[in-house]
Amino acid sequence: MHRIAVIPGDGIGPEVIEQGIRILEKTAKLCHFELAFIHFPWGANHYLKSGEILPTHALENLRTHDAVYLGAIGDPRVPPGVLERGIVGALRWTLDLYVNLRPVKLYNADYSPLKEIRPSDLDILVVRENTEDIYTGPSGFIKKETADEMALAIAFYSRKGVERILRYAFQAARERRKKLTLCDKANAIPAQELWRRVFEEIGKEFPDIERQVIYVDACAMAMVRRPQDFDVIVTTNLFGDILTDLGAELCGGMGVAPSANIFPGEFGVFEPIHGSAPKYAGTGKANPIGAILAGAMMLEFLGEKKGATLIESATVEALQTKKLSSLGAGANLDTKEIGSLIESYLKV
Ligand code: IPM
Ligand code: MG
Repeated sequence: MHRIAVIPGDGIGPEVIEQGIRILEKTAKLCHFELAFIHFPWGANHYLKSGEILPTHALENLRTHDAVYLGAIGDPRVPPGVLERGIVGALRWTLDLYVNLRPVKLYNADYSPLKEIRPSDLDILVVRENTEDIYTGPSGFIKKETADEMALAIAFYSRKGVERILRYAFQAARERRKKLTLCDKANAIPAQELWRRVFEEIGKEFPDIERQVIYVDACAMAMVRRPQDFDVIVTTNLFGDILTDLGAELCGGMGVAPSANIFPGEFGVFEPIHGSAPKYAGTGKANPIGAILAGAMMLEFLGEKKGATLIESATVEALQTKKLSSLGAGANLDTKEIGSLIESYLKV
């Protein structure tokens, strides 16, 4: 029995999570294991009613579950960052979920905006550092709201933080096609030289892994021009955020990309990479595939490998049929119908 804490969150979060839970429940039945879903209200409505974002006791409580399944956080009624940093950020940073796994995997070439692409050309695992960088460095204002004001945001990379994410990425590459690309901007940001040095150092422990380094601007270009050049990409928190939106679009749309925030062997938060898309909330236009595949990543983390594979295969089969006109918001099928379509291909 796995106890899953569910935070449906804001906007389209609850709709996509509903489909995710439906697929997870069916999978559990087919594979003979049990899942218990315990819902939590964290998000905009709860904040506007109570003033609470994600109190310490809530974080402690979430941690007593086996994993967290998260929809999306963010609402136009609340200033940007308050909930995103206060909930998504707090989970990642306070629980030290330093690995953010973001697969960029093309299931059906017809959905990609790239010409003459085959699924085997676009199968990348982005390993995004998830606790440091400009997200959690010191920041603030000097002489705020005067003519002389200055805004400050400092990126930082700790030796330990860089080492642990690089080591994780080398391991991940070993289980895939044995090629690891470090994506940075060391030509403009001297501090990122640390990444290059540690990459070389740790690389010596992994002589079987081919190493490549690339600047982030060139990486964005190369992901479009020759995505087959990449197997695992390891990168900083901010660059990983940006590159994976690009990656999702290359696979057909933001709605289909899943992610896992993990402290390996300990705990994880599983969510689609998309945001709360408030304009689509309640319209049925959202694509739940990112949430569904995040559910598969959660099962894999929980040791339910077979269940994870079932969900991924059902998704691949559903996309092969081309019954879904596009992977963007507002396709011919609504959120629930996409859930039904995938469910209809779930079988042992
Ligand atoms: C993501 C999101 C978050 C991020 C936001 C909501 C803070 O864009 O998970 O990709 O920047 O990491
Ligand atoms: Mg993002």
